[in-house]
Amino acid sequence: MAYGGYSYLELNYKPGKDDFVVLLWAKGTVNINNLAEAIAAESSVGTFTKIKTMNERIFKHYRAHVFEIIKTSEDSGFIKIAYPLEHFDQKNVIQFCASVMGNIYGLLEIEELYIMDISFPEKYQRQFKGPIGLEAIRKYVGTEKSRRPHCGTIVKPKVGLTPNEFADVAYKVLANGLDLVKDDENLVDQDFCKWRDRADLVNKAMNRAELETGEKKLYCCNISDSSIERMEKRLDYLHSHGLKLVMLDVFVLGMPATIHMVNMAHRYRMFTHAHRAGFAAVHRSGDGYSFGILEKFYRMFGLDQLHVGTGVGKMDGAPHTIRRFARLARDNEIKASIAEGGLEISKFDKSIAPMMPVASGGLHAGLTEGLFEIFGNDFTMQAGGGVHGHPKGSEAGAKALRAAADAIGEGITLEEKAKTSKELNEELKKFGYVKGYKVRRMLNFFDENADLFEMIVKKQGMSAIRMFDKTFDARGNVSEHHIISKKV
Ligand code: 3PG
Repeated sequence: MAYGGYSYLELNYKPGKDDFVVLLWAKGTVNINNLAEAIAAESSVGTFTKIKTMNERIFKHYRAHVFEIIKTSEDSGFIKIAYPLEHFDQKNVIQFCASVMGNIYGLLEIEELYIMDISFPEKYQRQFKGPIGLEAIRKYVGTEKSRRPHCGTIVKPKVGLTPNEFADVAYKVLANGLDLVKDDENLVDQDFCKWRDRADLVNKAMNRAELETGEKKLYCCNISDSSIERMEKRLDYLHSHGLKLVMLDVFVLGMPATIHMVNMAHRYRMFTHAHRAGFAAVHRSGDGYSFGILEKFYRMFGLDQLHVGTGVGKMDGAPHTIRRFARLARDNEIKASIAEGGLEISKFDKSIAPMMPVASGGLHAGLTEGLFEIFGNDFTMQAGGGVHGHPKGSEAGAKALRAAADAIGEGITLEEKAKTSKELNEELKKFGYVKGYKVRRMLNFFDENADLFEMIVKKQGMSAIRMFDKTFDARGNVSEHHIISKKV
C-alpha cells in the first residue's frame, strides 16, 4: 500500500510527546487505507507520484505517520495521523493550518473529510502566552469567593440603537445586577451608532452603575475591523479610558489578526472576549473541522472569554458536546471518546491558563440550572432576548438573570429563588423553567452508555456522532423548553 510511491501507513507507530496527533473522519472513492495514505502524503511531504528529489532524511524526519485506522466500510473510517514537531514552522500557525488542514480537503478521491480533533505538543504550546484567564476575570468582578456564574446581556436590537439609546440600556442592566454588557457581533461603527460615541457613553453608564452598586462591571466593546490600524486605535482608546475588556469576532478576523490584537490587549493587561460568529460554516459542514480545534487555538492564543455554545439555547450542540467545549476552555486535561468527537486525551501546558467559557444564544434565566449541569460554576451566561424580552423590560430581565446566577452560587433551585425574586418568577412564567435534573439525566445517560455509543460510532462512522448530537439534544428531550420556544 502506498501513495505516490511511498507508504505512510505504520500501524505500530506510537506517537511521541513531541508529535501532533490528528483524528479525522474520511470517506472517499478509494479504499480507506489508500485514502489515509493520500491524506498523510499531501499534508506532509508527498505528492501523487514518486519524485527524484525525495531522500531518506526528508522521509524519515518530516513525513506524517498513519498509526490507526478504524474502518467503518471499505472506503470510510476514522484515521489517526501523527506529525513530527520538526515538520512545522513552530512560530507560525498559518503554516500548520496550511499543512494539516489545507490541501487535503480538495483531493479528488475525498468525498467527506472532517478533522475532529488535534492534540498539540506541550513544547509547541509554550510559544504562546495563553489567557490572562478565568481567575483574573473573577478577581476583577469580585466573584472568586461566591463562584457564581457571571451574567451579562447582549444589548438588543443587535443593530439600530443610537449611542444614547444603547448606553441607556447598558446602564439599566448593569445597575440592576448584570456583570457584563456586550455589543453584538455585527455592531462596530455604523453611522447610526458611531463606535467612539457608544464607547464613551457606555463607559460613563458603566462607571455610574459601578458607583451605585459597588460592583465592578465589564463592557465587551467590539473593535473587530478589516483594518488592523483601526482596531489598534480603538484598543488604545479603550485602554486610555480605563476599559478592561475588548471584544473580537475571532473567526471572521482570522488567526493573525486575532493573535495580534490579543497580544496588544494583554500588553495593556486588558481581557479579550471572543465572539465566534461564522465558525459553524466549518464546524457543522460535512467537510470541515470541529470547533474544538479552533477552541484549542484560541486558548493558546490567549483569548480570555470565548462563546462555546449552550446545549440548551438556540444554537446547535447537544449538552455532552458543549460540556466538552466547556472543559476545553477551562481544564488542563480533557478526556473524550470518538463518540464525543475528540481524542482520548487533550492536554494544555501549565503555562496556558483556563479561559472563561461563555454560554450565549437563545438563553433566558429559566435555563440556568441546565447550564450549571453542563458548565459547572465557572462560566458566563449571556442573554439578549432573555433579558430584553422580560415582560417588565430590561431592568427586570437583568434582575431575573442575576437572581438565577445567585441561585447557582447559593446552591438553591430557581424555584426557591423565585420565591424572593418577583422578576425571576415573571421570567420563568414567560419563558419556562427547565429543571437541572433533565439535562443531568441526559448527560448521565450519555456517560453510562459510553461504551455502547463508542461501539456504534466505530461501526457506523460520522453519521452516528451527528445522530447522537441530535438525539441527546436538550431541546428535543426537555419538553418545556421545546414547547415554550415554539410558543414564544
Ligand atoms: C450572541 O451574541 O450570542 C447572540 O446575539 C445572543 O442573542 P440572544 O441571547 O438574543 O439569543
